[in-house]
Amino acid sequence: MCRQTGGRWHSAISIDTFLPVQSIISMATIAHFTDPHLPLTGARLRELASKRILGWLSWRLRRRRNHHADVLARISNDIAACDPDVLALTGDVVNISTRSEFASARRWLERTAAPERLMLVPGNHDFYVRDALKAGLPRLAPWMTGRPEERMPEFPTVRYVGNVALIGVDSTWPAPWREASGMVGEEQLERLRHLLANSAAKGFCRIVLIHHPPLTELASKPRKALKDADRLREVLVEQGAEIVLYGHNHEWAHRTIETRTGIAHILSAPSASMAPGRKKPPAGWQLLKVERRRGEWAIEVTRRGLANDGRSMHELERLSLSSLSQ
Ligand SMILES: [Fe+2]
Ligand SMILES: [Fe+2]
Repeated sequence: MCRQTGGRWHSAISIDTFLPVQSIISMATIAHFTDPHLPLTGARLRELASKRILGWLSWRLRRRRNHHADVLARISNDIAACDPDVLALTGDVVNISTRSEFASARRWLERTAAPERLMLVPGNHDFYVRDALKAGLPRLAPWMTGRPEERMPEFPTVRYVGNVALIGVDSTWPAPWREASGMVGEEQLERLRHLLANSAAKGFCRIVLIHHPPLTELASKPRKALKDADRLREVLVEQGAEIVLYGHNHEWAHRTIETRTGIAHILSAPSASMAPGRKKPPAGWQLLKVERRRGEWAIEVTRRGLANDGRSMHELERLSLSSLSQ
C-alpha cells in the first residue's frame, strides 16, 4: 500500500509563507506518529531534585516496561518503507526533559528524518519542567521549524507540503507537580486564527498538530486535559480546519466537529514505542493522503499497527474522510 506514494512530491515541501506552485496540483502524503518516549537513561542527581523525580520513579516502576526502543525502530522502518512526503510527530519524544534525554532525542531525530521532512510539536514530557529550555529542548527546534537554528520558535509554526498547510500548535507549559495538563494561551490562539484563515484563503488543506487532545471530552483525566480546550474549539469552529492530529492519550481515536468551513476530523494514534500486551494499544501510526476532489478535500487514512507477536506490522483500518458537511 505504501509504494505508490513514491518520493515524487518531496520538492513540494516549503517553509516559506508564499504559495508554492506545486501546491495547486500535487497530492501530499503525511505520516503521523506520536509519543515515542525514548528510553530514559543518564539522569543526574541534581536534575532529579525537582518534579522530575516523579517522572523518573514512574519510568523505573512502570513506563520502561511499556515503551521499547525496538518497537519504535519497527514503526520508524515501516514509515520509511512508505516514503511519505513529511512526518508529523506530536510530542513526548522524551520523559522528564533531562540533558542526556535531549542529546539522545537529537541523535534519534537525526537518524529518523532531516528537519525539512519531519515536523515536531512538543509534548508535556518534552517541557516537563521549566529547566527543559536550558537542558536542551531547543536542540530539537530544527525539527519544529525545518530550519537549522537551535532556538525555540514562536508557535504556531507552519509548513507547506504540496497542497497541505501543516500548522504546529504548542500545548505545553510548566505544569505543576502531578499534572500533565496543557495550555495553548490567548496569544497563540489569536495567531492560529489568522493562520487558519490565511491558509484556507490560499487554497491549502489545513492540518493542525497538537500534543494534547483538542476537545475537553477527549481528555482521559482532568489533570491531563488541555485547560483551554474550549477556546481552541471556538477557534477551530470559527475558522475551520480539515484535520487535527494529536497524541498524549496513547490511543487510536477519530472524532469530528462541525466547523464554519465543513467537517474537522480529529485523529490520534498510540505511542510509537508501546509494546504489545500492555494496558494501552500496541504501537501504530497513520498515513494520510490528501487530495482535492471536486471542491472537497478527500483524505485517505491508513492505520498501521504492531501485531501481538511484537515483530510484524499490519494494516488495521482505512478511513476515507471528506471535508464536506454531511
Ligand atoms: Fe505520552
Ligand atoms: Fe503527553
